[in-house]
Amino acid sequence: MIRVESLCGRDLISIADLTRNELKALIDLSFKMKELYYNGTKFLNILNGKTVALIFEKHSTRTRVSLQVAVHQLGGNSLYLSAQELQLARGEPIKDTARVLERYVDGIVARVYSHKSLIELAEYSRIPVINALSDVEHPLQALADVMTIIELKKDLRKLKIAFFGDGRDNVAHSLMLAVTMLGGTIYISTPQGYDPDREILKRAIEYANESGGQVLIVRDPIEAAKNADVIYTDVWVSMGQENEREKRIRDLRKYQVNSDLISYAKSNFIFMHCLPAHRGEEVTEDVIESKNSAVWIQAENRLHTAKAVFASILA
Ligand code: CP
Ligand code: NVA
Repeated sequence: MIRVESLCGRDLISIADLTRNELKALIDLSFKMKELYYNGTKFLNILNGKTVALIFEKHSTRTRVSLQVAVHQLGGNSLYLSAQELQLARGEPIKDTARVLERYVDGIVARVYSHKSLIELAEYSRIPVINALSDVEHPLQALADVMTIIELKKDLRKLKIAFFGDGRDNVAHSLMLAVTMLGGTIYISTPQGYDPDREILKRAIEYANESGGQVLIVRDPIEAAKNADVIYTDVWVSMGQENEREKRIRDLRKYQVNSDLISYAKSNFIFMHCLPAHRGEEVTEDVIESKNSAVWIQAENRLHTAKAVFASILA
């Protein structure tokens, strides 16, 4: 069976919804999906007759396309629903939307402004709800991130992974949880006022204590970059934070990933970014276009991990 059996019918709202074994199994399955894809088995008929609703309150390129293609390649049908075009935008409550959609479709994927909307969708529907990004987490991204790190660097437990910029970032939160769950070491290099969410940090510390990993908050970007195997950044202004733009750019400037910062990393480090990237802000053009950049492999892995997730949760 190509799926992680225990995930069948479950929600995936946070990386913390997974056990360590389930996370490992999902990554293994993602590698299997990638191998099948490259060996010519692009299509698997495991979601035959199933429909997935994709609700998007925000923009998306990678998540939307990888998820729709993943459902298609698994033999299912997906419905892209812009929240703007749903009655949601005219005030229909989320709990009503949830109870209606569960009568038509087999799973709901949602990209939302508020994490609470996902919790409400999950509470009011009896079908699986999958987080396609909220203000708090981006678990589907973290799956592709750890897959990419393992693909390019093998044993994650031996690595120094450093994230630069907004420590409260959704992508950073999910990455922290996934890396510590798997026994890796992650440095979050961020200024005062941008520390990760307390609950998520607490959870990551617990995972690290259990797995032999580490999570450190470091103000000095050079300390975080020194001998790093992975240098990761995300945008300084996330979707929904546009009105804080000037302040964020001012506060986070010191954390830009540029040629000076990467000169402290190991010579064979990889550069990662969930994308979209803002060249000249969180990363410079030379770094993202360098031979160390893994961003295209990382983006590709969104498809393979999405297939692993859908095959496990919905098949
Ligand atoms: N990385 C990511 O989620 O990209 P999109 O916003 O394009 O989906
Ligand atoms: N932190 C970014 C990630 C985009 C994929 C945002 O939320 O806009």
